[in-house]
Amino acid sequence: MAEEREQKVIVPVPEAFRAQALIKSRQQYEEMYKQSIEDPSTFWGNIASQFYWKRKWDTSKPICSYNFDIRQGPVSIEWFKGGYTNICYNALDKHVNEGRGDNVAILWEGNQVGQELRLTYRDVLKKTCQLANYLRKRGVKKGDRVCIYMPMVPELPIAMLACARIGAIHSVVFGGFSAESLAGRILDCKSDVLLSCSAVQRGNKALNLKAIVDEALMLCKQKENFTPGTCLIYDNANAVPRSKVNWVAGRDLWWQDEVRSCSTEAPVEWMEAEDPLFLLYTSGSTGKPKGVLHTVGGYMVYAATTFKYVFDYQPGDVFWCTADCGWITGHTYICYGPMLNGATQVVFEGVPMYPSPSRWWEIIEKYKVSIFYTAPTAIRSLEALGDKHVIKHDRSSLRLLGTVGEAINAKAWLWYHRVVGEGRCPIVDTWWQTETGGIMITPLPGAWCLKPGSATLPFFGVEPVVLDQEGKPQDGPCAGYLCIKGAWPGMARTLYGDHQRFAETYFTTWPGYYVTGDGCQREANGYITLTGRVDDVVNVSGHRISIGEVESALTSHKSCAETAAVAFDHDVKGQGIYAFVTLVEGVSPTEKLKDEIKAAVRREIGSFAVPDVIQWAPGLPKTRSGKIMRRILRKIAANQFNELGDTSSLADPAVVDQLVETKRGNT
Ligand code: WTA
Repeated sequence: MAEEREQKVIVPVPEAFRAQALIKSRQQYEEMYKQSIEDPSTFWGNIASQFYWKRKWDTSKPICSYNFDIRQGPVSIEWFKGGYTNICYNALDKHVNEGRGDNVAILWEGNQVGQELRLTYRDVLKKTCQLANYLRKRGVKKGDRVCIYMPMVPELPIAMLACARIGAIHSVVFGGFSAESLAGRILDCKSDVLLSCSAVQRGNKALNLKAIVDEALMLCKQKENFTPGTCLIYDNANAVPRSKVNWVAGRDLWWQDEVRSCSTEAPVEWMEAEDPLFLLYTSGSTGKPKGVLHTVGGYMVYAATTFKYVFDYQPGDVFWCTADCGWITGHTYICYGPMLNGATQVVFEGVPMYPSPSRWWEIIEKYKVSIFYTAPTAIRSLEALGDKHVIKHDRSSLRLLGTVGEAINAKAWLWYHRVVGEGRCPIVDTWWQTETGGIMITPLPGAWCLKPGSATLPFFGVEPVVLDQEGKPQDGPCAGYLCIKGAWPGMARTLYGDHQRFAETYFTTWPGYYVTGDGCQREANGYITLTGRVDDVVNVSGHRISIGEVESALTSHKSCAETAAVAFDHDVKGQGIYAFVTLVEGVSPTEKLKDEIKAAVRREIGSFAVPDVIQWAPGLPKTRSGKIMRRILRKIAANQFNELGDTSSLADPAVVDQLVETKRGNT
């Protein structure tokens, strides 16, 4: 009830914020928005002209051409066709050449208090050039794939930028992924280079990344007899001494030893706007991760523009995004968006609770962070520890807060607003996806009132439509499937090596629209509130996880005959995973076996995908045609036993009674 009442709260923009904001009113936004939709060539052309282009795009043609309708031909998306540029040049050289080389780019804060580094734009450029030269020396050229498996040391964004500089396609794999997942990603794009790190300390835990790399490369060899030609390991002496690192002579190379002697100047590879920039694997409704591909020109313009307007970025700001570069948020709002704007940002290697639950607020005070961007799950877990950890640190530098990754409930929103932001800072609840490249639906912080839990209105160039069951666009207040009409510059162009799957996943259900996979509600004033995924994807602590992938990891354990996983509401993580497992005939259901099965998921995917609960299921509810009725399992996991609906069409309705009985016994 309280939560419902709070949802109705409308929070006006503080006058002090509006007065200095880039976009000061809804009317100003409406005018710009109208132009972005009706005349994209002028709107995006003006913005893109602020970057350096070796050759301008063909201005005699529309700035964008696309086909979203598979009945008319293959799906295609092109922006700034004929233009040549380089995103690394625009993120680094441009600032140095224009006299901003001494501005701080990265304020790096290590896991341990006291570990810190300060890198100017000139420093980052030099380091990037050295690595770019080294990669070239190893034969890496435009179009080659480079896999990056690293913790949040400055060398991670530097590695991404170095790839972009020479036209290599980076594929960053989040450091929390297992050897099995890393191997799958290396093999899918046949990346000939792996950039990694000896180890990392996160909180009081050490993670031996090199051991995972060794295992992953062994798997690559076993599965497809493939070994990357270069395996460059960053020596993270803070986490583990060199002498303790397992070494494969002839294959492994120490980053610092190899790169040190390379020149700090490296020519830029000029890229056509539609040349690939990076791949990022993400989970879909079916098992195998998808290699989402973004291209140079459109992504560059969109990353920079969303950063500028959504975060109301102005010179002097200190930005901090707590994401990891292994996810899209870290790509767009650590590596590229801030750097393209010449911003100063904090990059943090550690975790929010170490060495104490004050760590984040301490960092905000220390670096005088003015814009802070994080995930709702982190806000909820810090809220649970009480205000005292927050308020003992000076947060007067903060002027804007943001969230991303999942819906934020009103209670957490209000706490973030009142306690962290002292009621002074607007909150931008930003909705977007790996595939969208940048923020899509979001408040512009000086322009309109906020509503806890609502992402509000579309960004420039984005035309959301809400479709009903039949795929008909609805007018006015409504609820339905969130789709996007028309192309925006930052959108993915394909899935690596599988354009067919790209078309099937996003453009087939309702030809003519990009289908997001999310449900939403729209109010009379146009505000959009996201209501969660409508496919088999769960969002655990902001991590997007495929149900299919979890199920196949569960069944990789020899004792599991059949499994079905569903999402359930979780106070801190947003959603948790609840797995029903049917064991192989004759195997005894023990607690130890549950641990073993969880370990199988940790091995196949990573710790973040391990189910919160495993329930033994003598059988699973299935239709007569053998389809598992997940709807019923979701109700059982949520203890909503009275809402199971009609179970008479099941092949064996008694299965449901058994599952309910066990669940009731446990809770
Ligand atoms: C969810 C993360 C509600 C959504 C940038 C989307 C959100 C998926 C929000 C993409 C938000 C992201 N409110 N839901 N503000 N932001 N989501 O690809 O379900 O890791 O489809 O990209 O996260 O997750 P991804």
